[in-house]
Amino acid sequence: MQSPIRVKLMEAFRKADGEFLSGQALADIAGCSRTAVWKHIEELRKEGFVFEAVKKRGYRILKSPDRVSGEEIYPGLRTRAIGRVIEYKESVPSTQKIAHTLAQEGSGEGTTVIADEQTEGRGRLLRSWHSPKGTGIWMSIILKPQLPPQRAPQFTLIAAVAVVQAIEEVCGLSPEIKWPNDILLHGKKVTGILTELQAEADKINSIIIGIGMNVNQKADDFPEELKSIATSLSLEKEEKVSRAKLIQKVFEKLELYYDLYMEKGFTPIKLLWESYAVSIGRQITARTITGSIQGKALGINEDGVLRIQDAKGAIHEVYSADIELN
Ligand code: BTN
Repeated sequence: MQSPIRVKLMEAFRKADGEFLSGQALADIAGCSRTAVWKHIEELRKEGFVFEAVKKRGYRILKSPDRVSGEEIYPGLRTRAIGRVIEYKESVPSTQKIAHTLAQEGSGEGTTVIADEQTEGRGRLLRSWHSPKGTGIWMSIILKPQLPPQRAPQFTLIAAVAVVQAIEEVCGLSPEIKWPNDILLHGKKVTGILTELQAEADKINSIIIGIGMNVNQKADDFPEELKSIATSLSLEKEEKVSRAKLIQKVFEKLELYYDLYMEKGFTPIKLLWESYAVSIGRQITARTITGSIQGKALGINEDGVLRIQDAKGAIHEVYSADIELN
């Protein structure tokens, strides 16, 4: 758990937006002594924050390290539940695994596991997910909607819309979605989403939404087999991106669309999702475990299932597949 004093200090510096704050003002805000403020600032310096301290004016923040613990994310976060409890880990096999355990142990809705590095990151269809240290966002969010398990796949699409809008707003880039869960920039994958379920026959206990975002990787950080198919936000934007800001925005968008979905159902999400979808209206090949289907992607149905019309006019409903644009 993060120190509440430090969270308050960081919130104050964020609001001050680079201006000076006196030691006394900081002590009042954080509810501690001026000596305690000084000690916390020294600790923060050791972790990579850069402060300027001037007599009679106080402190101002010059540089924050690109970290993704609660301390960087709580200040200024405007959500009700999502990201209100963050379990931050420096290195874990997979945040999905930890989130599953936490959900089973009764962690509340919105609890999120974030890691700086994953050593056994998991992708869809039993693939691995490359998650190197200090460069990406590797996180798993626990939701507890009171819904039947058949509705779970729709959450991948809710999360995809949230991620696309967060990238648009924080980075000024325009990503597209490739059904069901790939977020692309200039045809290369920048984010993947893995939705997993803990459920009984008729009710969801927890949904774990795993989000992997390539943020600050350089071209050489990708292994050879990913170089032609993956990219990062900083490669596309040609500047470093604040992971903490992006996480905050993903939380806010996800909560917005989760609430909308619970109130109004899937239709508004479906419309938004289709407006970002790269495959709709195009000729595609869908590789499923039972074989390949070629045809025109018509759209998704009310369950988030992809509808493809083949050359003979027959319509196929695809629940799980890899999609290739022809
Ligand atoms: C995919 O496109 O195949 C989905 C990738 C999902 C990766 C994320 S990273 C955080 C979470 N933990 C994991 O092990 N996987 C998901």
